[in-house]
Amino acid sequence: MSFCALLFSLAFASASQIPLTVHDRATEDQYHHFEPPIRHVAVIGAGPAGLQYAAVLRDEGFDVRLLDRAPGPGGNWLSTSAVPIKASFPNRAIKNGSYTPDVPDKLPLVQEYFEGDGGLSLEYRWREHWNPSPVWEHLTSNSAPFFTSLPETQYPADIEWALPQSAIRRHVRSYASAKGLNANDEESLHVTSYSTRVEYIHKAPSSHKWTLYLRRLSLTDNTRSQLRAEWWSEEVDAIVVAVGYDSTHVPNIPGLIEWAGRFPEQVYHSREYRRPEKLAGKNVLIIGASVSASEIARDLAPHVRSFSVSIRDHERTTYMQRRSLRRLPSNISHIPEIASFGTIPDDATGIQELDLHLLNGTTIRGFDEIILATGFVRSLPFLADYHNSTIKGREEPEVDVHPIITDGSHLRSLYWTGHYIPDPTLAFKVGRPWTLGTYHALLLARTWKGKARLPNEKLRWEGYEGPGGPSVFDGGFGTLGEEGLRFSLSFSTSSAVDMVLDSPPRHIALNRKLLVHLNTEALKFGGRLVAPWPVEGREKFVYYAEQAWEAGYTRSENFTRYENVPESEWNSEVPDVTWIPEEW
Ligand SMILES: Cc1cc2nc3c(=O)[nH]c(=O)nc-3n(C[C@H](O)[C@H](O)[C@H](O)COP(=O)(O)OP(=O)(O)OC[C@H]3O[C@@H](n4cnc5c(N)ncnc54)[C@H](O)[C@@H]3O)c2cc1C
Ligand SMILES: NC(=O)c1ccc[n+]([C@@H]2O[C@H](COP(=O)([O-])OP(=O)(O)OC[C@H]3O[C@@H](n4cnc5c(N)ncnc54)[C@H](OP(=O)(O)O)[C@@H]3O)[C@@H](O)[C@H]2O)c1
Ligand SMILES: *[C@@H]1O[C@H](CO)[C@@H](O)[C@H](O)[C@H]1NC(C)=O
Ligand SMILES: *[C@@H]1O[C@H](CO)[C@@H](O)[C@H](O)[C@H]1NC(C)=O
Ligand SMILES: *[C@@H]1O[C@H](CO)[C@@H](O)[C@H](O)[C@H]1NC(C)=O
Ligand SMILES: *[C@@H]1O[C@H](CO)[C@@H](O)[C@H](O)[C@H]1NC(C)=O
Ligand SMILES: *[C@@H]1O[C@H](CO)[C@@H](O)[C@H](O)[C@H]1NC(C)=O
Repeated sequence: MSFCALLFSLAFASASQIPLTVHDRATEDQYHHFEPPIRHVAVIGAGPAGLQYAAVLRDEGFDVRLLDRAPGPGGNWLSTSAVPIKASFPNRAIKNGSYTPDVPDKLPLVQEYFEGDGGLSLEYRWREHWNPSPVWEHLTSNSAPFFTSLPETQYPADIEWALPQSAIRRHVRSYASAKGLNANDEESLHVTSYSTRVEYIHKAPSSHKWTLYLRRLSLTDNTRSQLRAEWWSEEVDAIVVAVGYDSTHVPNIPGLIEWAGRFPEQVYHSREYRRPEKLAGKNVLIIGASVSASEIARDLAPHVRSFSVSIRDHERTTYMQRRSLRRLPSNISHIPEIASFGTIPDDATGIQELDLHLLNGTTIRGFDEIILATGFVRSLPFLADYHNSTIKGREEPEVDVHPIITDGSHLRSLYWTGHYIPDPTLAFKVGRPWTLGTYHALLLARTWKGKARLPNEKLRWEGYEGPGGPSVFDGGFGTLGEEGLRFSLSFSTSSAVDMVLDSPPRHIALNRKLLVHLNTEALKFGGRLVAPWPVEGREKFVYYAEQAWEAGYTRSENFTRYENVPESEWNSEVPDVTWIPEEW
């Protein structure tokens, strides 16, 4: 058994008891000390999460660099008519990442590209560099304004619950502007760098500094006839990663790759979907049964000639899965899972000639377009030093370097505070940025300033929650039940699915835990106290969830229970030295 697996099992065995090693522990140093002190911090990603990290860290006195490959702030909500480059069929290997990190031998370097250089158009280079958002024109939110909003930023007073994507776009950009972090804010030019893709981050074993290898693309003239790429590196003391999904998942259905390769305009991922008019009068097949599938189907309904959706046959266990099924238009044909795509006739002129073999033994044909609404993965190519794709599922083998990325379905080796356990100068987003973002940003700032304690590495491993970790879309409202389960990606591999179903609701109180921790540390070391979500906000949330998600989703007793979650159920791993009894 590895050292960390041993600690892991010990931690589980004695989760709520006073550890046997109290005496040693009381004398050893239980906390991490950041030395030399953290001054310079890079934030990767300027979505709703990254903007809050940058604003809070800067206001707390750090020298901040905010980097995003996109040309402005907004992240997922920087919606655009620019279409992401075609998803890879098959999926790129996770270890290869969603792009191949481009780090020249000698830095800095500048290179100019003209149309057609290297067989690529300038427009292709531009889209490949920034990976335009997957959000389509008529997308509306599946979360209401009061819990899809950033601090000190308003939506129009009479805005609807299902927010048009453009309203979220404006909201996030006005937060960025209010914080002086927008693309054209001259006062922040030393802070922000847009159109800047992080290619690689590295820390030498002997060093206290991280080196970021960066690549920025810019148009060199107004005629758009030339692109300039610049590569350079920067050194920082700490890094926050807030990058979201960066790659697509397509299933491994026999024959799919061949058809998608031959007729790329007719077989594509939901990330590339923009507007329904383009599909007017067509016969369309959507593969997948989750949010992208149902919402694209609703957008298409009035335009297409016919439409079908291929749904795998299994029980839908989360409210969002059930909601997606309910929201499919009533006149869409449901077809079973696809077993294989038939062989391509040599003289095929389009997918209209495709024979689709279904799992139930029937063969169908006659589609004009196929949209794969099959989800996303995290590949984070710039973390090449922390990838290990030989590790499968939930395995936790003994390793030299604790990986962060394995199969793309989750992040691992992270403490609940988002810190990479072996080196807490690297931290990741935790929880839902709208509701937890500023709390979490404050926690990172105070931890790196030495004003909030972080346990030492041994204790961090003891408190480790396992693969999956806290960096998921959850814990936002302090609700229990499904909201507390990790929101993992739907994968065709059974391992990732198991990961969702068999995980205990570990993050039930992430929101509460962050709050309690921040305030406990502030009372001890100084700093403003933070207020919890107002009860009224939580009541609105209950009402919304009942109406818009699922009846019986949550009730006031769930919140009452939330208020009273016993410590043993928070799964809090912050060692509370003050309660360890003295020898007497
Ligand atoms: C289609 C779709 C619809 C959604 N709808 C909802 C909804 O209705 N309600 C809701 O609450 N959530 C929704 N979400 C979830 C959404 O991810 C969150 O709302 C939110 O955007 C997450 O914020 P973030 O800052 O963590 O990440 P993001 O908003 O994804 O921002 C990440 C940023 O990191 C940048 N980045 C990535 N890699 C690099 C790199 N190597 N170098 C530099 N920059 C990089 C990206 O360019 C991006 O700007 C939706 C997601 C999708 C895909
Ligand atoms: N605001 C909005 O309205 C909106 C719109 C789009 C997306 N989003 C958000 O974006 C995120 C991603 O959503 P998503 O829907 O793109 O991805 P997703 O939730 O990961 O769903 C992927 C879907 O692909 C299906 N799938 C995979 N392989 C398949 C196969 N071989 N045959 C048939 N189906 C297959 C899965 O099936 P199983 O169900 O069988 O596992 C699942 O339904 C979510 O957070 C979502 O909330 C929000
Ligand atoms: C991964 O990258 C290597 C080297 O660039 C390449 O040979 C291989 O085909 C790639 N694999 C996938 C699945 O993308
Ligand atoms: C499906 O029903 C919707 C709503 O009644 C209607 O607008 C649309 O034309 C129908 N679409 C198809 C393809 O039958
Ligand atoms: C298989 O599914 C197709 C599409 O839904 C349907 O038309 C057909 O009747 C089904 N065949 C069997 C044997 O159930
Ligand atoms: C990657 O994981 C394997 C086990 O699957 C391990 O043997 C190997 O040492 C790991 N690589 C690194 C760099 O830690
Ligand atoms: C809310 O509380 C009820 C009654 O205690 C319980 O049955 C239900 O599962 C809870 N819902 C959630 C989402 O936790």
